[in-house]
Amino acid sequence: MCLTLGNAAKPGAWRKNDQNQHPSQRATQMNNQYLNPDDQNRNGLSERLRGGDLTVSNKELQDAWAIDPHYPAADIPLDRLDPSHPALFASDTLWDHFARLRKEDPVHYHEHSLVGPYWSVTRYDDIMTVDKHHELFSSQQRLGGITLGGIAREDDDAFALPMFIQEDPPKHDKQRKVVTPMFIPRNLAELEPLIRQRAGQILDELPINEEFNWVKHVSVELTGQMLATLFDVPQEDRLKLVHWSDTVQNLGDPEFFETPEQGFQELFACLAYFTEFYEARKKEPPKFDLISMLAHDESTKDMSPQELLGNIILLIVGGNDTTRNSISGGVLALNKYPAQYEKLLQNPGLIPKMVPEIIRWQTPLAHMARTALVDTELGGKHIKKGDRLAMWYISGNRDESYIDRADEFIIDRPNPRNHTAFGYGIHRCVGNRLAEMQLNVMWEEINKRFSKIEVTGDPLLLTSSFVHGIRELPVTIRG
Ligand code: HEM
Repeated sequence: MCLTLGNAAKPGAWRKNDQNQHPSQRATQMNNQYLNPDDQNRNGLSERLRGGDLTVSNKELQDAWAIDPHYPAADIPLDRLDPSHPALFASDTLWDHFARLRKEDPVHYHEHSLVGPYWSVTRYDDIMTVDKHHELFSSQQRLGGITLGGIAREDDDAFALPMFIQEDPPKHDKQRKVVTPMFIPRNLAELEPLIRQRAGQILDELPINEEFNWVKHVSVELTGQMLATLFDVPQEDRLKLVHWSDTVQNLGDPEFFETPEQGFQELFACLAYFTEFYEARKKEPPKFDLISMLAHDESTKDMSPQELLGNIILLIVGGNDTTRNSISGGVLALNKYPAQYEKLLQNPGLIPKMVPEIIRWQTPLAHMARTALVDTELGGKHIKKGDRLAMWYISGNRDESYIDRADEFIIDRPNPRNHTAFGYGIHRCVGNRLAEMQLNVMWEEINKRFSKIEVTGDPLLLTSSFVHGIRELPVTIRG
């Protein structure tokens, strides 16, 4: 949803060692990784980045911070636990780290990390407290914004991307109101037949008894088409929108860009593309699409190029990555829990309950960050003004003290909407009903056509502690 510098990379990167190594070798790695936390090179590199220097080499940073993500969480000294490390997400080894923190240190401080010093808020109730109190915990970009590693800025510079998710009231409230009408139930009901028709078309073209990548052929297609509809831009441009959304996630990935600055150059093409539509729609009568809404409202009609780009990126990433990863996550979850898949096949009427459970189980945005505006207390810990905090939605959604059998995927839970995945308070996801509707329609159409979608290869996970995502999911539809 915003800049996650140094956070995204190809699976395998950031990993120092192999899980098959002997424990004694691991101990050495532990020393290397944790027992020299003041490593000047490592900390210096990430400080440069957080100071706004976007010419830091992505590769150098990645190498300096490489860890063994399979090192047992239980063996790491508590004060060294750093659940923000992207390698934990690529290797799906994050869960034990969060389980330990929820139990032993639910509001946890970690000083030396790739993203700088930060507090981890890991329990459901504490996450709600932070999300509810925007007067204590700010989303403001100039203070660091909503992703760990976000850069605090005194003034807008060439690489600042103001967007309303990274604003506090009153500006946040005014700009959020501009796009809210797009997501009200009446409009969603009007969109539904179109989504159903597109979902049907995508599914009808899939091969049977032949392995393919579900992410590319289904999840990306459906969300890409939806984005082009919301902005009312040509459908043939949808993959451009997906590309720009991916670019934001890959700014820190040496596989894609040598430096974050290089990645930004791509985003300037995105700005050029949308500026044309924004200016043209100012001259046309208002219509019901996101660009026209921004072009005609008092609070958004005179945005600077950076602010236009920021808000467009918010809407692209918000509408793309999250829903895409829920569509893929659902297939993965049903395959990991075959009894639940069987239950669904026996009773497709469970789809409306299953959809929020998929979103909880996947939690497509692992965290949102905040900055403390005053000295305060949280979970018995003293938080100082200016401290950065991560609300780990992904951990809140596994909190056994709030959610029964939280680690399990259960498609007929009594209260499936009780989860943290959409956030809470004034920034609660504005697109949540649209996301649920897309997933509902998709599963209804899948059920009409196929008896089973089988995961037939290892999923490739995204290396990011912000977007909890699936890059590739090999599946076979049985005929
Ligand atoms: C399963 C899918 C989705 C998930 C899990 C999700 C999650 C989130 C989360 C966690 C937040 C921040 C909440 C907070 O800080 O308290 C958010 C905000 C937002 N989301 Fe979503 N989202 C999803 C789908 C969408 C869709 C389809 C759109 C539509 C374009 C969208 C647009 C936004 C926007 C614009 C915001 C900023 C709201 C604000 O600051 O007031 N999201 N989303």
